[in-house]
Amino acid sequence: MINVGIVGATGYAGEELIGILIRHPKVRITNLSAKIVKPRVFSEIFPKFKNTLDLVCAEPDIKKIISQCELVFLALPHTASMKIAPSLLNAGKKVIDLSADYRLKDVKTYEKFYKTKQKDRVYLKEAIYGLPELYREKIKKARLIANPGCYPTAAILALAPAIAFGLVDLSQIIIDAKSGVSGAGRKAAEELIFSEINEDFKAYKVNTHQHMPEINQELAKLANKLINVTFVPHLLPLNRGILETIYVKTQRHLPAGRQSRHKEARRQGLSSLYKKFYEKEPFVRIKDEGDFPTLKEVVGTNFCDIGIKDYGNIIIIIVAIDNLLKGAAGQAVQNMNIMYEFPEYSGLT
Ligand SMILES: NC(=O)c1ccc[n+]([C@@H]2O[C@H](COP(=O)([O-])OP(=O)(O)OC[C@H]3O[C@@H](n4cnc5c(N)ncnc54)[C@H](OP(=O)(O)O)[C@@H]3O)[C@@H](O)[C@H]2O)c1
Repeated sequence: MINVGIVGATGYAGEELIGILIRHPKVRITNLSAKIVKPRVFSEIFPKFKNTLDLVCAEPDIKKIISQCELVFLALPHTASMKIAPSLLNAGKKVIDLSADYRLKDVKTYEKFYKTKQKDRVYLKEAIYGLPELYREKIKKARLIANPGCYPTAAILALAPAIAFGLVDLSQIIIDAKSGVSGAGRKAAEELIFSEINEDFKAYKVNTHQHMPEINQELAKLANKLINVTFVPHLLPLNRGILETIYVKTQRHLPAGRQSRHKEARRQGLSSLYKKFYEKEPFVRIKDEGDFPTLKEVVGTNFCDIGIKDYGNIIIIIVAIDNLLKGAAGQAVQNMNIMYEFPEYSGLT
């Protein structure tokens, strides 16, 4: 049994984490905190937790968190996490950070896209990017996990096999992404109120979104080459869910040694290649070729569903996740399960 704390407990990701962790057989929640003026019993804020979680939620008290928890989830906005994580890590605690503070290894890129200073370069070096399907072995030994962003989780899982098999032209990857409104967090903002969102559908931060460099960073590691995807996010008039349609051109000018491997891969069918790539993964489901996922099939689950079809010159990949689960809290718990050698699906099924 481990004692865990959640900082940012009243946000969307924090609330979702708590919903998972109270059902987790190996976890005891011992500290809840948020930016909160007056300490309140958590179930007064969220009556659905009455009689299951009646802890008091208050401003983060680092000494208390250190004495009460061995693992701390930071479900905080970026910049807030890097103010808290170092004290916890210095005290020997483990940290899973859901913000972007430890995701981007290149400080200049972080500062450009998040418009703020990166103030913790020491732990930035140590942080492990917490995408279990690619970095499980490193996650096992990690003290600090940079839990991936929601759009990047979907995009990277959708593209990793195609890149690993050398199937795509890396210079032209187009990601057309859509997210429900909870992706923006619980904070109040005029452009996110019901009457603005409802019955509308629009693109935002076109090719400038802060998740774009995260996708580029991770795909570049897989391809061993610089990558610049085209990334256009859209806001769906829904509470939750992310669906991305990804267009890639097939690799045309292959070195002689790779041509036969490439042909063989496409002869087998991309769907079977993807199934093989993810065969041991508990939370990635691959559709049969030509069958594509929908949001309803993944919302409320930690699954990432992927459909892929080869159209000759172009390959289309469609991927769907729940932004608050596989895109945030579910993935954070999956990472915790790996770090503590609990069954990977504990609390998540
Ligand atoms: N929403 C998603 O789909 C999603 C997906 C992946 C990753 N993430 C990331 O996860 C993090 C949390 O996201 P969210 O959607 O849950 O955001 P949110 O709904 O805005 O919640 C943020 C939480 O942090 C608390 N907080 C803010 N500043 C604080 C401070 N200085 N000290 C202590 N607590 C503070 C807030 O408390 P108050 O409510 O009292 O202000 C609230 O509990 C963000 O970094 C986000 O980018 C979110």
